Amino acid sequence: MDWLRSALLPLQGSEFAKEIDLMYMAIFWLSVVMFFALMVPMVWFSWRYRYVPGRVTPHQTHNTALEVFWSVVPLLICVGLFFWGIWGYMHFAVGPGESMEIQVTAKKWLWQFEFPDGTRAVNELHVPVNKSVHLVMTSEDVLHDFFIPDMRVKRDIVPGRYTEFWFTPTVVGEHTSTCAEYCGKGHSDMRAKVFVDTQEKFDDWMATGGDEWMKHPPEEWGKIQWDQKGCATCHTIDGSKSKGPSWKGIFGKAEKLKGGASVTVDENYLRESMLQPQAKVVDGFEPIMPTFQGLLRENEIRGLVAFIKSLQ
Ligand code: CUA
Repeated sequence: MDWLRSALLPLQGSEFAKEIDLMYMAIFWLSVVMFFALMVPMVWFSWRYRYVPGRVTPHQTHNTALEVFWSVVPLLICVGLFFWGIWGYMHFAVGPGESMEIQVTAKKWLWQFEFPDGTRAVNELHVPVNKSVHLVMTSEDVLHDFFIPDMRVKRDIVPGRYTEFWFTPTVVGEHTSTCAEYCGKGHSDMRAKVFVDTQEKFDDWMATGGDEWMKHPPEEWGKIQWDQKGCATCHTIDGSKSKGPSWKGIFGKAEKLKGGASVTVDENYLRESMLQPQAKVVDGFEPIMPTFQGLLRENEIRGLVAFIKSLQ
């Protein structure tokens, strides 16, 4: 029956996923059995005792044994499912001792991850395979919810407090996470990639941020960043208006700022706008952009500038 499970549920990316799926399939089959156990007799009785002119309705009586049976058996099943559920929940909500702790900050509309050595990343969570990971999560603005379907973990993120969960990834490769709590216009774009790496690759990424950037020309690397770091949520590249100014044709342009001043868009202005977005806000836009200070590597800033320059 594994084909059915894999048709209904995503890839099993963690130890915890196996527990969740087992219970899911048990409830699924229980529901199938209960469906037929109720519907087949119901349809039969409806037909057997249908209205026929002149037929005498049989005398109604109690059957105590039968009534106790159909009350007590479902009760026991429900109580059993409750304890099974609690047992699974404990595995998700209480840590197994030694874990790598990663801080998650959600904000409209991106994910920021902070690793034990201070490395930070946006919309890309790297974890080593077969090691327990502990996520400590908070929000800078509204309710969000961190959901990694492949790991079967999902929890609300609440401003002003921390929520947490644990998982042990078991499948090397790229997985997806999403925001599962409606948080405004950019909610559906609020995604992060979850990279489960071998220990060696993970250590390398922690030290250098990876060498992916060397494989792309700067404009192309910038376009990848535009898509991955959440820029695309607010900045279009075709000239249409969004939450922030479109990047098309912006390089070299004189932009009117809030408060009357103006600025020529050059490399320095672009850099400043990424790192201190509130310093010079373009007239007609809200100062809603979060800072990317410490979140973008030099090669990523260079790539973004090159990409914006190329959009003439
Ligand atoms: Cu964040 Cu929906």
